[in-house]
Amino acid sequence: MKITFPDYIKNEKLKNWIQEIADLTKPDDVYFCDGSQDEYNKLCEGLVKGGTFQKLNPEKRPNSYIAFSDPADVARVEDRTFICSKRKADAGPTNNWMDPKEMENKLNKLFDGCMQGRTMYVIPFSMGPLGSPISQIGIEISDSAYVAVNMRIMTRMGKDVYKYLGEDGEFVPCVHSVGAPLKPGEKDVPWPCNSDNKYIVHFPEERSIWSFGSGYGGNALLGKKCFALRIASIMARDEGWLAEHMLILGVQSPKGEKTYIAAAFPSACGKTNFAMLIPPKAFDGWKVTTVGDDIAWIKPGPDGKLYAINPEAGFFGVAPGTSYDSNPNAMESIKENTIFTNVALTPDGDVWWEGMTEEPPKELTDWRGNKWTPDSDKPAAHPNARFTAPARQCPSIDEKWEDPAGVPISAFIFGGRRSQTVPLVYQSVNWNFGVYMASTMGSETTAAAAGAIGNVRRDPMAMLPFLGYHMADYLNHWLQFGREIPNPPRIFFVNWFRKNEKGKFIWPGFGENMRVLKWITDRVKGRAYAIESPLGWMPLYEDMEWKGLESFSKDKFNELMTVDREDWKKEVMSHDELFVGKLYDKLPKEFIHMRELLMSSLWRSPEVWGLAPEEIPT
Ligand code: GTP
Ligand code: SPV
Ligand code: MN
Repeated sequence: MKITFPDYIKNEKLKNWIQEIADLTKPDDVYFCDGSQDEYNKLCEGLVKGGTFQKLNPEKRPNSYIAFSDPADVARVEDRTFICSKRKADAGPTNNWMDPKEMENKLNKLFDGCMQGRTMYVIPFSMGPLGSPISQIGIEISDSAYVAVNMRIMTRMGKDVYKYLGEDGEFVPCVHSVGAPLKPGEKDVPWPCNSDNKYIVHFPEERSIWSFGSGYGGNALLGKKCFALRIASIMARDEGWLAEHMLILGVQSPKGEKTYIAAAFPSACGKTNFAMLIPPKAFDGWKVTTVGDDIAWIKPGPDGKLYAINPEAGFFGVAPGTSYDSNPNAMESIKENTIFTNVALTPDGDVWWEGMTEEPPKELTDWRGNKWTPDSDKPAAHPNARFTAPARQCPSIDEKWEDPAGVPISAFIFGGRRSQTVPLVYQSVNWNFGVYMASTMGSETTAAAAGAIGNVRRDPMAMLPFLGYHMADYLNHWLQFGREIPNPPRIFFVNWFRKNEKGKFIWPGFGENMRVLKWITDRVKGRAYAIESPLGWMPLYEDMEWKGLESFSKDKFNELMTVDREDWKKEVMSHDELFVGKLYDKLPKEFIHMRELLMSSLWRSPEVWGLAPEEIPT
């Protein structure tokens, strides 16, 4: 098929590439997305007709839709995700690798005719505000209208992108197919995908992305993990910045002082919750504002400070557990203009998921499309069910969230999901030690990725599934980054997920995390007290604000903050699984010394570093 291009596309390289992909994939027709509301509505109507979407009750959830995916396509597929650098060593031991030539051959076969019977959508998008010097342009070609409408929410999508691209601008080419061609006359299914073959592929040298077989989230919305993290991390390495799996928030004190913080937690470990935190009532005059909930691009500014932007324009957030109790700002963000995937449908055309209300509705259609009652033994919503909502609808959105210059970052927070060992909060003594500890971050795995749930895995900086190159090179990049900036942000560690011997969370979490956030911002400003521990600086009970949570006893706090020396010796030994087992040949030399220092600081009596009365300074 010879494509007729709209006149506003003036980039020859782009046109040639689109034609090439159409020749390979052989769609029935080609559609150029312009990003308008009218187009969005029409595409959604089409998805309703095709059975992918059901329109929700406009009185309850205006302009919103629900989709149920194929049960075999519900999360990112890490074992099918590849970094195809020319040299295997550049992908490193934590990524799947295949020779780029071999992968190209494979992809050429898979993509040959894969869009037959379908429309090929050309989706122009910008990661970051359109025209900002830090923004990057991508063009996604996809045979999924579901992807097109989600991309309109998640990115700055529309034909204005071509203006900035001009005749010879750079773009990241992203090719996506659900991998389910239709024979003439064959009826489509509501959620086409390919159960036998899934490939999420990145070519670092070409800076291109090819995704086959899945229509879900990070597998298919290629601006997100594939571009803004895996490809962008490579750009960041080459150009001296950071592309991170981090939320960005602002903390405003009653005096109006603003502190911006970026925080990395693994998938489904509370970034969205933390980014939209509402302080408890007792924190009168304090406010938390949201810049982003998943990805941060961070660059040194001319003043030596670090500035962060959120490259996305929407939230692709975990639905289960989201409620007016746990996250009112998220609930407000998804009131309208939202796409829900794999949540449950109520009889009156609204949505529900586990944790949204205390009492489940009497009757639902579950995410598999079956009738569900509270007696059912399976959850009504898939644990990785998600909402796609425009960020501008979030009541706590920061006034600078679209500022092309970004916001100045004063602190980094790292946090995993650890039911044992790791205390509620501590501050690293310096940048290097912070990088070491962040690189050894462990987390119990969640439903956000296909595979086993609940094992502790080392997830350096929460980037394990999202790094486009060698993990050890990345850790060196972080160390080098710290050397080059005069006053690097302070580094903190948190763990909301510690459990008592009964298996219950010790810390109330959510809004109460403000207490930790306040201590952190006070530390950054040099105002809060802390005492030394083997891991770094820690608050005493007395250093935290307890107004409104007086029921949380000092004993409980001390339990939460315990650094058990024997546990920590085991923890440090287990760092070797990553350091010796995987990164040995390229491990930063600093890490060897820091590990020894950490070990030696654990060899001291008493056995348990607690907050013994005699240790509390007066
Ligand atoms: P991705 O979008 O997958 O990158 O993840 P995310 O980090 O944005 O995940 P999200 O905020 O949606 O995490 C949701 C999970 O974290 C739910 O299981 C919540 O119950 C849990 N969670 C969030 N904050 C807290 C907290 O303070 N305490 C506890 N116990 N759980 C929390
Ligand atoms: C994650 O898994 O970290 C996500 C969801 O943010 S997805 O975009 O599907 O990767
Ligand atoms: Mn994420």
